[in-house]
Amino acid sequence: MFNGNCITCHHPTKTISAPAVVEFKERYMNAFRDKDEFVSYMATWVEHPKAETSLMHDAIEKHELMPELGFDKEMLKIICEYIYETDFTKKDVEYWRD
Ligand code: HEC
Repeated sequence: MFNGNCITCHHPTKTISAPAVVEFKERYMNAFRDKDEFVSYMATWVEHPKAETSLMHDAIEKHELMPELGFDKEMLKIICEYIYETDFTKKDVEYWRD
């Protein structure tokens, strides 16, 4: 789900048309050490992206606000848990096609 839906815009480690996954993950990790808080805040944000609650105002200025994708909240939580658990800095992130 993450692979099909998020990496079209978010490369694991490179900032191209949107911030890299490692970049927004680090931002959220710094704000929320706790997994539940991390997942809950991120899933809520991705459900309805808003500038006011963004942790990345610099990214919005650079790339514009992320569009609303219309995903179900439960699915977003699963995706955000996956983001929390996965080490995207590993070189063999097999799903990314350059
Ligand atoms: C159509 C392109 C696009 C897709 C698809 C996309 N994003 Fe984004 N996303 C962006 C852009 C551009 C930004 C940077 C601007 C911003 O923060 O709104 C961003 C920012 C973010 C942020 C930082 C939020 C903040 O605090 O500002 C998170 C977290 C995020 N995306 C998660 C996801 C997840 C999870 C998915 C898949 C379910 C996803 N994105 C799919 C374009 C996309």
